[in-house]
Amino acid sequence: MSRPGQIRFLSTLATFYDPVVSSLGFRRLWERVAEHGAAAAGERCLDVCTGTGGVALALADRGAEVVGLDLAPGMLARAERKARARGLGDRTRFLRMDARSIAFPDDSFDLVTCCMALHEMAEAERSTVLDEITRVARARVLVAEYRVPAQGLSARLFSLRHAFEYLESDDFPAFVRRDVTDRLACAGLRVDDVADVGRYRLWLCSTSH
Ligand SMILES: C[S@@+](CC[C@H](N)C(=O)[O-])C[C@H]1O[C@@H](n2cnc3c(N)ncnc32)[C@H](O)[C@@H]1O
Repeated sequence: MSRPGQIRFLSTLATFYDPVVSSLGFRRLWERVAEHGAAAAGERCLDVCTGTGGVALALADRGAEVVGLDLAPGMLARAERKARARGLGDRTRFLRMDARSIAFPDDSFDLVTCCMALHEMAEAERSTVLDEITRVARARVLVAEYRVPAQGLSARLFSLRHAFEYLESDDFPAFVRRDVTDRLACAGLRVDDVADVGRYRLWLCSTSH
């Protein structure tokens, strides 16, 4: 599926997104991202590729002021609805914006998160998005992604389990081949801590600027 096609697909099926990803353990993942990112009350946070706002709302629950950005209007509409229903409308803002060109000045946010979005991107898009994340982060960056086994039987099982991702995106194989830590280092981020949440991994990083 082409990248614009993927975004349209997600936008149209946004109603079904939360039930589907909940069955894959995302609710716990969103909470752990907010916890691990140590978002504190009053901090400014940016959730890049926010989708239906799972991480953004978990950050706002902790008292942070949160901007969530995404390209899919259907996903953003759901995020806004959820924020209002949870009484978090005052602390959250959801914007339609391309993560390749984040319209905020350098060092705007104490914490920038990006959860389960990099694996869907084309290779060049991934690098540009990571550079943008690094640019707008003043202190911490937290990336959550699949925990990809390096080799052996578990690597083969991973490919089978994620056959859908391989079919859906031409760029998933490229994502799997290169370690996330290496990608983060290339963007100028220093990895301070790594934590696993079931089949997902969190990389907590600091910016060097
Ligand atoms: C699999 S969803 C993950 C959403 C959310 N972070 C979560 O944890 O549930 C990936 C999201 O990334 C968004 N996305 C992909 N490429 C983007 C880009 N270049 N700029 C902004 N959003 C993008 C998609 O629209 C989609 O909502």
